[in-house]
Amino acid sequence: MLENNERKMPLQLEELPPYPEFEENVDRAPSRGFFLNRDETILALKNALRYVPREYHEKLAGEFLEELVNRGRIYGYRFRPPGRIKARPVDEYEGKSIEGKAIQLMIDNNLDFDVALFPYELVTYGSTGQVCQNWMQYNLIKHYLKNLTRNQTLVVLSGHPLGLFPSRPEAPRVIMTNGLLIGEFDNQKEFNRAAALGVSNYGQMTAGGWMYIGPQGIVHGTYITILNAGRRYLGLGNDEDLRGKLFVTSGLGGMSGAQPKAVEIAGGIGVIAEVNDKQTFKRHRQGWVSKVSDDLDEIFSWVDEYREKMEPVSIGYRGNIVDLWEYILENDIKVELGSDQTSCHAVYDGGYTPQGLTYEEAIELKDRDPDAFKEAVDRSLVRQFELLRKITEKGMHFWDYGNSFLKAVYDAGAREIAVDPDNPANGFIFPSYIEDLMGPMVFDLGYGPFRWVCLSGKQEDLDKTDRAAAECIDPDRCPQDRDNYRWIVNAKDNDLVVGSKARILYQDAQGRVRIALKFNEMVRKGEVGPIMIGRDHHDPGGTDSPYRETSNIKDGSNITYDMAAHCFAGNIARGMTMVVLSNGGGVGIGKVRNSGYGLVLDGSERVDEIIRSALEWDVMVGVSRRSWARNENSIKVVKDWNRDNGFRGFITEPEIADDSILEKIVDEI
Ligand SMILES: NC(=O)c1ccc[n+]([C@@H]2O[C@H](COP(=O)([O-])OP(=O)(O)OC[C@H]3O[C@@H](n4cnc5c(N)ncnc54)[C@H](O)[C@@H]3O)[C@@H](O)[C@H]2O)c1
Repeated sequence: MLENNERKMPLQLEELPPYPEFEENVDRAPSRGFFLNRDETILALKNALRYVPREYHEKLAGEFLEELVNRGRIYGYRFRPPGRIKARPVDEYEGKSIEGKAIQLMIDNNLDFDVALFPYELVTYGSTGQVCQNWMQYNLIKHYLKNLTRNQTLVVLSGHPLGLFPSRPEAPRVIMTNGLLIGEFDNQKEFNRAAALGVSNYGQMTAGGWMYIGPQGIVHGTYITILNAGRRYLGLGNDEDLRGKLFVTSGLGGMSGAQPKAVEIAGGIGVIAEVNDKQTFKRHRQGWVSKVSDDLDEIFSWVDEYREKMEPVSIGYRGNIVDLWEYILENDIKVELGSDQTSCHAVYDGGYTPQGLTYEEAIELKDRDPDAFKEAVDRSLVRQFELLRKITEKGMHFWDYGNSFLKAVYDAGAREIAVDPDNPANGFIFPSYIEDLMGPMVFDLGYGPFRWVCLSGKQEDLDKTDRAAAECIDPDRCPQDRDNYRWIVNAKDNDLVVGSKARILYQDAQGRVRIALKFNEMVRKGEVGPIMIGRDHHDPGGTDSPYRETSNIKDGSNITYDMAAHCFAGNIARGMTMVVLSNGGGVGIGKVRNSGYGLVLDGSERVDEIIRSALEWDVMVGVSRRSWARNENSIKVVKDWNRDNGFRGFITEPEIADDSILEKIVDEI
């Protein structure tokens, strides 16, 4: 129950907090543009003022208006807690339940200055992915979490905490949604309007799902992607790594910053372009990129040196990716693997810096003259495509890294990038990393980015869980388990932790259940403190997107999101601690629905039961759907599951029709 004096919502204030000071060297989100008309502007102000006692409205209205006009959003900076936010050990949080405390920790980690992309604007990663929309919501969410009991569920609508509702201990403690727009309005323009009005949040995946663990979360996936690219495109054996091979790409941001680290772990050489020096130097300071230069001659002399030595190295190029590709073409440099990780899901919102402009100039042009900015972006994307076409003709293998790069090039006017220039939904001339690599070789088998956070904040807990997880994996079972085993035994030495004591480890359904049960037992025995498990939404069952996760679903159902909705509903029904469903993660509004979860391991037998039913469901919903879509590897996993679990349930298996019969009768029509 809330205390009597806490019942009067919204925010309780003795007095207005002072206007905060902003640290100079911390990146700020670019303005999202001011485009509301007079009545909409008034509506946006009224919406934001709902959180604040009336006596402060007059003073705050002007301040909020200024934020709206200058930043395109009302963030309510005044309500941001002073100083740096950091995830603290769970015991240091106030709360009436371990879940309420754990979730506060997860939120704070998403806003840590070392983790978040634009911490003042509540953006965790991916250019626009926010924890919630404004600092009033943050305070209110925190307040509810402090009071949350096991008989209540906090309901969050696009960052807005609708309230603490009576429920029961077996129900989730938090259920959230982000950016769920009605079909007719499900596009970027309407979303921008809704976000400016303060009624919709772009949650990306784990930003608005409160399960981000810093770039480590993506290093493992990137490592697996690059290794599998080597196997598929360069014919490397399962035991080989990328020694002596060059991978060129762009982006040292939230997720893209994982690329240099991953290429080094995979044994290769990486050159990564980044236009924003703050990002480059941040990654360099953190040790995620080994060398940095703005001199391309110097960079490629390093490449030659490391090729010769057959040693891994990652190099950040302080400049535009288009300039880097131009140099490579002009100097006839051999590149084996190539990709791009600029934020093309938001190209016209500042996610992509056009050639010829610095990062700062691009932001300035976008704010001053959005049409001219759009033209510059389109020109640059088309130029990048022309260069890539020529370089791939010389033997480089290029793939879309799930950032909507191919679609952005198409939208910029280079329609020849689509297999069918009139319909980009039929695919592009370059593969996506899901179609060729992650889909068949990882997701279809049920493998995905399982993760955990040691809520005690203790390194020794992380070490113990790393060892326990390794003991749960048989490296000889399959190539995936060999990669994952290698990953986890080397994880500590690779110095991957930024923010909370967390670990990522790709696992399939069985592996996740086995490891989670082991961890819960360790908590029960007092060997480690409580643990939060979860995953990225970029997983076999969590996400429906024809542009990414489900791009290797070829039965026509890739335009539906029944699977992500069922994943969400099923995880609620089975009692995960925190469950979320969002629109937009990764590839943009209207192009994806994704769901995720978090589960607090408190050592109880109740949690053992949730692990057994919910963790398995969360993966097998995806594998079952992939199997129904006739994906070969999934059919095999489903057959095995039915053989081993027939007494517990049964998954529908597809009959495979013979194409030659069908082609014959259809051709005869
Ligand atoms: N890493 C993955 O496994 C993965 C998976 C799926 C999707 N993605 C996608 O990758 C994209 C990047 O994600 P993020 O979190 O790193 O975003 P981010 O915005 O944090 O980083 C992108 C970086 O690219 C830089 N950049 C923009 N234009 C550039 C240019 N022309 N040349 C050089 N650098 C440029 C930006 O300055 C920025 O630092 C997103 O669209 C995301 O959805 C990544």
